[in-house]
Amino acid sequence: MDYLAVLGRQKNISLAELESLFDKILVLSPKLATFKLTKYSPVNKAGEPDINRLGGVMKLAKEIKNPLEYIINDIKSSNYNGKIIIGVSDYSKKSSSKTSQRWALDLKAKLKKTEVIPDKKLSVRILANKNADLSTATVYHNHLCSKPGHFEIIHFNNRWFVGIGVQDINAYTARDQARPARDTKVGMLPPKLAQILINLCGPLPKNATVLDPFCGTGVVLQEAYLMGYRPYGTDLSERMVDYSLRNLTWIAKNHQQESTQNLSNISVGDATNYTWNQPIDAVACEGYLGPPMSLTPTDIKLKVAKQECKTIILGFLKNILPQITSGTPIVMAIPAWLRPDGHYQRLNILDEIESMGYNVIKYNNLSQRDLLYYRDGQVVAREIIVLRKK
Ligand SMILES: C[S@@+](CC[C@H](N)C(=O)[O-])C[C@H]1O[C@@H](n2cnc3c(N)ncnc32)[C@H](O)[C@@H]1O
Repeated sequence: MDYLAVLGRQKNISLAELESLFDKILVLSPKLATFKLTKYSPVNKAGEPDINRLGGVMKLAKEIKNPLEYIINDIKSSNYNGKIIIGVSDYSKKSSSKTSQRWALDLKAKLKKTEVIPDKKLSVRILANKNADLSTATVYHNHLCSKPGHFEIIHFNNRWFVGIGVQDINAYTARDQARPARDTKVGMLPPKLAQILINLCGPLPKNATVLDPFCGTGVVLQEAYLMGYRPYGTDLSERMVDYSLRNLTWIAKNHQQESTQNLSNISVGDATNYTWNQPIDAVACEGYLGPPMSLTPTDIKLKVAKQECKTIILGFLKNILPQITSGTPIVMAIPAWLRPDGHYQRLNILDEIESMGYNVIKYNNLSQRDLLYYRDGQVVAREIIVLRKK
């Protein structure tokens, strides 16, 4: 079965996330990629990839032979007898709102001629297309992937797909903004990026312990908990440990998980010399990013920040190396700074990290240069490094 992902705004990082969890990734266009499941890929109860745990994917769909047949079979097998709602997204090269609308109207006309619609006296509503593809908000608010009798049909170069998931915009906003303990100075790691960092560790066993040694307010810990892993956090600052504890307790109250996980596994510790409890199955974190900056730093300020970050990040990697087993993944967001000419200056520490005893993971569809996460004009960007102990 081929699945289709509509990639998020940070396309390369989304592709890296797919490569980490799935097989046979094929980039179809700048927005689209197909992939297959492996036996280790995380799936939901229906045995399908779960959009709610993929931070970099806007929409998920599965390939079908024929949308008309698919809709009829689905209506028959679910015994649905409400209104049928259909939206069409056309991602083909020469698509437009008109081509999408034409596919949709054609589908409606054919559906009305089949036995299932007249027999059940069902009505069919087609969503209007402002663009060739329906926005995630339209798909989400019209419940196209979540309610029976509702469908998003996706067309790409004579291939057809049906939507099985769309990013839950409201849930991400709530997880980000309703947290009881927030600190704008520590940097606001978006929950989506925290999910991506965890996913870049590759498939992990259920209940795996995910360590964040720079846990701050606990965004990675929160997301690890929601993904069914055991969150384990440490941070230099007592205040941050308290924030993480409060946020995790809050998330656990609002989202019951099947397994019972120890939510108070958070303590004060300097990542450059701490000894963590075992086991550690994976490390996912946003490391120290230096002081917050709203203007591109002067050369001297940048030099100081770079040195400080380098010392802490390399110090941590050196300290944890003998504490983890060979093959353990470590995924870190590390800083890169905007320069006046518009490029981002990186820490350039990968050679040092390799010679320390780590492999830097390489991807088929992107290079290390592509693993940079930032919003337009952001001064401190995040470079993502994906390592495994040799
Ligand atoms: C960029 S913030 C991480 C924010 C975090 N991702 C969150 O969800 O809020 C970096 C964190 O590293 C911590 N830190 C700085 N130096 C450290 C060290 N040597 N050992 C452990 N933590 C450190 C800071 O206290 C801060 O909370």
